[in-house]
Amino acid sequence: MLEITLNLYEDKKDPYYVQLYRHIRQEIKSGRIHAGTRLPAIRRLSEHLDISRNTVEAAYLQLVSEGYVESRPRSGLYVLKLEEDFSFLEKVTNQEPGRQDAEEIVETKPAASPVLRCDFRNGTIDLSSFPFSVWNKISHQIMQEYTNSLSLYGDPQGEPGLRHQLAGYLRQSRGVRCSPDQIIVGAGTQQMLLLLCQLLGTERQPVAVEDPGYNGARSVFSELNFPMVPIPLEEDGIDMEYLMKSEAKLVYVTPSHQFPFGMILPIHKRIKLLQWAAEHDRYIIEDDYDSEFRYQGRPIPALQGLDKSGRVIYMGTFSKSLLSGIRISYMVLPESLISKYKDKKAFLEPTASLIHMQTLERFMEEGWWEKHLRRMKNVYKKKHAFLLSAITRFFGERVKVIGQHSGLHIVIEVNDGRSESELVRKAEEKGVKVYPTSPYWITFDTQLPPRLLLGFGGLSENELEAGIRLLKEAWT
Ligand SMILES: Cc1ncc(COP(=O)(O)O)c(C=O)c1O
Repeated sequence: MLEITLNLYEDKKDPYYVQLYRHIRQEIKSGRIHAGTRLPAIRRLSEHLDISRNTVEAAYLQLVSEGYVESRPRSGLYVLKLEEDFSFLEKVTNQEPGRQDAEEIVETKPAASPVLRCDFRNGTIDLSSFPFSVWNKISHQIMQEYTNSLSLYGDPQGEPGLRHQLAGYLRQSRGVRCSPDQIIVGAGTQQMLLLLCQLLGTERQPVAVEDPGYNGARSVFSELNFPMVPIPLEEDGIDMEYLMKSEAKLVYVTPSHQFPFGMILPIHKRIKLLQWAAEHDRYIIEDDYDSEFRYQGRPIPALQGLDKSGRVIYMGTFSKSLLSGIRISYMVLPESLISKYKDKKAFLEPTASLIHMQTLERFMEEGWWEKHLRRMKNVYKKKHAFLLSAITRFFGERVKVIGQHSGLHIVIEVNDGRSESELVRKAEEKGVKVYPTSPYWITFDTQLPPRLLLGFGGLSENELEAGIRLLKEAWT
């Protein structure tokens, strides 16, 4: 397919990626884009429409997750054949000359899709266990006490008191060795990565990434035009031989709980990784996004704690352990980079909210954070065990669980002859949302059995039970 052309409108409610996704979906439903058509490459379409590659990628990901298109290895995205007859939409479009009008009629038709009964979305947390009253009380105190300082932006690295608390917590619970001065707090891991990449500059390219791996990090690298080297995974994480033969000058890894497949990088690979970085003057970005939650065996200390040469940049977040909406994440820079940061980037104002940072600081100082973490470990441990037992009860050996015993999601492998998109669609027909793992790959191999991601943090045991039961009905 050559190009896709449409008018894009500035609209806060419907960002560009939604408009693009809707347009392509409409073209597929009406048959104007046929099954088997290859969609334009992301870079080409983004140049053609003069929008970012992220926007096109987000629209494409939505189409993949809804089963309209599928990704084929080293080839691209192809339109799938729809089972339903959408030809009536064509008639509506023909009768109505204005594109906007026609789409509105289509969009406002009574919803044919079933009610959403269970959403196994990744990244959701158990809100019912969040200590709202304590948080609100502290936040209220902060507002009353700090009237003057709240009119300022605060320290560019994030509140010093919070960094002090963080340094203590990271040392004790994750084995990270750092001073508060090495920490930068900001509004989300992607913001931290953006800042880091700007700091590292072009001499740190290309960057090696796990394949499959976290697409949120990949989109930052791609936005900043950092060439990426996909490194395949072995049973126990990143393929070190492959990495060592590559030209990469930087690597992004999730060693304590590989995203999405959940393996833990063993000590011999950690040592090799650190040697590779030390001997060749490379850096390692360690994303330790959810390792507070480990349900079996000893806690795995962070890679950063083993690093004697200052090659590891450690990243963490409060999104899973506290509240995703709070948007507080952080990175720990080695000494060499912190001085560079102070030289080059300290003019940047902080991105995280001063009020939230000060609230969090006191929340930690008064011992609430420790208490909350202890509580959440039990809550998620129970949910995790419940989910695994429900899968065994309903599916027995038919479904294999991958990457268990840690974090707030699991991956299941369903080897029953159906494709990933078919499984997603069948589940959706029963009102259950499960998520494909193919978008996390750069070089996706369709020969692999389909694997689906199930986030469980925000679901109750009843919802987990109902969700797995409905999946059984959907896939029988
Ligand atoms: C691998 C990985 N890193 C980081 C994050 C969290 O990012 P943030 O701090 O922006 O919420 C996620 C969220 O799902 C993730 O999967």
